[in-house]
Amino acid sequence: YKRITTKSLVEMKKNGEKIAMLTAYDFTMAKIVENAGIDIILVGDSASNVMAGHETTLPITLDQMIYHASSVVRASERSLVVVDLPFGSYQGNSRSALDSAIRIMKESGGHAVKLEGGSEIKESISRILTAGIPVMGHLGLTPQSIYKFGTYTVRAKEEEEAEKLKEDALLLEDLGCFALVLEKVPAKLAKEVAQSVSIPVIGIGAGNGVDGQVLVTHDMLGMTHEFHPRFLRRYLDLYVEMTGAFENYISDVKSRDFPNDNEQY
Ligand code: KIV
Ligand code: NA
Repeated sequence: YKRITTKSLVEMKKNGEKIAMLTAYDFTMAKIVENAGIDIILVGDSASNVMAGHETTLPITLDQMIYHASSVVRASERSLVVVDLPFGSYQGNSRSALDSAIRIMKESGGHAVKLEGGSEIKESISRILTAGIPVMGHLGLTPQSIYKFGTYTVRAKEEEEAEKLKEDALLLEDLGCFALVLEKVPAKLAKEVAQSVSIPVIGIGAGNGVDGQVLVTHDMLGMTHEFHPRFLRRYLDLYVEMTGAFENYISDVKSRDFPNDNEQY
């Protein structure tokens, strides 16, 4: 297997081949996702919610992202591993943004970084790119700005925000980003954005007119039960499956059924 590169992703868009991306935060999950044939593994800062139980993505640190990313990189052979720069590690100061991105690349072995935002962070994006580090953009619902938005509802329904989003997408392409994520925006707008740029647009809650899709793995497996936005297709109900397995184990222990004669030395 040849490894997927940022170049091959742009080729895939050109050839009309859709790009499949999923999250992973640890070696075992990444190995399964990898062997299934995923194109991109995202080490998302959603680890803050999914792994650590925080209410938002804001608390996760650069050190914690590097730990997750290094575990995922050890499982990847063909997939491109993209790592989120966490809140506070790139906004406001392009020098510290570059330092953060360099730490991710050096200490985790990841292949690219993802940053949330458009024109506000253009200096940071440019500076990271000048170091030869590929950057994936992220527009629309940007969870690190949740306290500015106030809610996790659909973004860019109003003309003004939609215009800014379209300009930001063009800007990200101009700066040299190799792809961008569009989160929770109207399908019509997302399609328009995907057609306006030559870099792949990966959607989550952005409809079918984009160049690829991403889901949070724990959500699509049905491990997270409280979360059911419209865009989330559940491929398993692992919460229920796992609960059944745990209940059986507990009952086997209590009833002395486990271990049996063949399960001991
Ligand atoms: O952190 C994450 O999982 C993400 C995806 C939802 C795109 O950024
Ligand atoms: Na993220």
